Amino acid sequence: MLKVINVVGARPNFMKVAPIMAAMKQRSSQFEPLVVHTGQHYDEAMSDAFLRDLELPQPDIYLGVGSGSHAAQTAAIMERFEPVVGAEKPDWVVVVGDVNSTLACALVCVKLGVKVAHVEAGLRSRDRTMPEEINRLLTDQIADLLFTPSIDADANLIAEGIPPERIRFVGNVMIDSLHQNLERARQSTIKIQLGLTAHGYAVLTLHRPSNVDHQDTFIRILAALETISATIPIIFPVHPRTRRMIAELGLGERISEMKNLRLIDPLGYLDFLSLYSAARLVLTDSGGIQEETTALGIPCLTLRENTERPVTVELGTNTVVGTDPRRITDCAVSALDGKARRWSVPPLWDGHTAGRILDELAR
Ligand code: UD1
Repeated sequence: MLKVINVVGARPNFMKVAPIMAAMKQRSSQFEPLVVHTGQHYDEAMSDAFLRDLELPQPDIYLGVGSGSHAAQTAAIMERFEPVVGAEKPDWVVVVGDVNSTLACALVCVKLGVKVAHVEAGLRSRDRTMPEEINRLLTDQIADLLFTPSIDADANLIAEGIPPERIRFVGNVMIDSLHQNLERARQSTIKIQLGLTAHGYAVLTLHRPSNVDHQDTFIRILAALETISATIPIIFPVHPRTRRMIAELGLGERISEMKNLRLIDPLGYLDFLSLYSAARLVLTDSGGIQEETTALGIPCLTLRENTERPVTVELGTNTVVGTDPRRITDCAVSALDGKARRWSVPPLWDGHTAGRILDELAR
C-alpha cells in the first residue's frame, strides 16, 4: 500500500489533482491518498467551488496560509507542511503545476528525504521575471520523479542536466479533468444567465502580475479590448488580484465605460468550462486555458510575450500576441474571420494521464 500526499494550493491545482485522486480511490488496494490544501487560495470562488465542481474530497489537512509576499507565503507553507509530512510519513508526495505551494512543499520533502513527484514538469517560458518560472526550475531540480505533459518539456529537462531516468512523459492530466467534466458542464446555465448564445461572444481572463500590476500594460490591453468589443461582446470573469488592481490603478471608470466588456465574478470549473467551450475566441494570460482551448479547438490569444506551453502554438489553436494593442486586435480579427486554422490535440492529451502517473508511482 502506497501512502500518497497530494498537495493543492491555488486554483489551477484542483483540476490537476482531481483525476489523480479519483484514480487512486479506484485503486484503493494499492493507494492510500490524502489531500493537503495549503490555503494559498482561500476564497469560496477560488477554492471551495472547485472542490465541489471537481468532486474532490474535502482536504484531509488544511494549512490555512492565505496571502502574503512570495517569501512570506512560501515560508508559511513550508513551516506548516513539514510537521504534516513528519506525522504522516508518506511514501510519495505529489505536487502539481508551478505555484508557490508546489515549490514550498517539494522543498520540504527533499530536505526530509521523502520522495516527491512533480506533475506538469519541464515547462519553461525562459522568462525568469515570472514567479512561476522560478517555481518550475527549482521544483524540477529537486523532485525525484518528473511527469511531463509534452515532449518539449522532456527536452528542457534533459538540457538542464536532469537524468532521463527521472523523467516520464505521461501527457496532460488537466485534459483528464476536461474529458471527465464536459458532459456535466452541459448542465450549467451560465450562458442563459448571461443572455449569451453559443459562438456569439469572446471570453477574457487576466491575472498575471506582469499584466495587471502595471498601469501602462493594463491600459494597452484595455485599448485592444475596446476595439475588439466593438465587434463582439467580451465576458471577463475577474480574478481577485485583478479586481484589486483595477481599483488601485484607478481604471474602474474607464472599464465601466466599455459597455461590451462585461465583468463578472470568478466562475467555478463547470460554469467556466461551459462558457469558454462555446466561445468564439478566448483571450488570456493563464497557462492552463491555453491548453484547454487547444484540446477543444477554440482560438486562443495569449496576452503575454512568451509561453511555457509551445505545443499549444505548434499543434494547437494558441497564438502568443503580447500586449501591443495593434497586434492583439489584428490577431483577434483574423481569429474571428471564421476561417478555421488547422490544429490537432497534442500526443497523450487523451484523458488517461492520471492512470499513467499511478502506474509509475507504483513501479
Ligand atoms: C497564483 C499563482 C499563479 C496562478 C494563479 C491562478 C503563484 C506564484 N502564482 O497567482 O501561478 O496562475 O494563482 O489564480 O503561486 N486573493 C484573494 N483570494 C484568494 C486568493 C488570492 O483575494 O483566494 C488575492 C489576494 O489579494 C492575493 C492575490 O489575490 O494577494 C494574489 O494571490 P496569490 O496566491 O499570491 O497569487 P495569484 O495571483 O492568485
